[in-house]
This record gives sequence, structure tokens and C-alpha cells, in this order.
Amino acid sequence: MTENLIEKAIEARGFAYAPYSRHEVGAALLTKEGKIYTGANVENCVFLGECAERVAFYKAVSEGERHFLKIAVVTANEDLSPPCGICRQLFSEFVADFEIIVSNLKRQFQVFQLKELFPLSFTPEAFKKGQH
Ligand code: THU
Repeated sequence: MTENLIEKAIEARGFAYAPYSRHEVGAALLTKEGKIYTGANVENCVFLGECAERVAFYKAVSEGERHFLKIAVVTANEDLSPPCGICRQLFSEFVADFEIIVSNLKRQFQVFQLKELFPLSFTPEAFKKGQH
């Protein structure tokens, strides 16, 4: 499944719209039921871009999905580029145990757990506990 998700993320990267940063990213998100939602980063001329990971999540969540297992993220960075902080916050909204596969175009990859990339995060549970 890891290799398959990476292939889907590479395909999705082909649809990236990143004329400003020229940093193209593809993502493939796996749901608990085994469905895959892909995403690519989409930018615009006021520099309000959306990351590939968030596009994949928004597609899935807006179609009713709530339970996720893992995501593959692909860039041309040979040293591998893990997801940004905003994306990590979005992941933690939906999943505590989540696998993040970070790959380059040569299919060299590293697997991280959300908990290690985003420790001590602000969660929906913490939010609820802080309400009066
Ligand atoms: N980007 C992603 O799509 N995912 C990441 O994890 C980091 C950054 C995008 C946002 C922007 O379009 C471009 O890469 C440069 O930051």
C-alpha cells in the first residue's frame, strides 16, 4: 500500500498548479475503508496557496470521510519535505494515529507518525476541555 500511495501522489503532483513557487506537491490520502483521495497544491497570484495535503483532506472530508489511516506526500526535494505545520494541525483534527509517508520522485521515502512530527499539539479534545 505504501508504494501504491506514493504512485498516486506522484500522479496527483502532475496536476499541481504552482506557477509562483514552482514547488509542486502531490498527496494521496488513505481512508480507513481503503479509499484514496488525491490532492495537489493550488496557488494564485495573491499567494494564498493550498497545500496538496489539505486539498486531499478537503476533498475527502467534504465527501463525508472522517477516518483516515495514512497519507503519502511527494515533492522533487531529494532530501524529502515533510508536511507544513498548518497541514499537521489539520491532520490532528481528524486522527491521532496517522502515518505520513514522505517521498521524492525517485520513490525514496521515509515514514513518520503524526505524533512524532506534531507532539503536544492542540487537539479538539483540548479545545473542548477549555470551554466553560
Ligand atoms: N506545499 C504543499 O503543498 N505541501 C507541503 O507540505 C508544503 C508546501 C506547497 C504550498 C505552496 O504551493 C508550495 O508548496 C510552496 O510552499
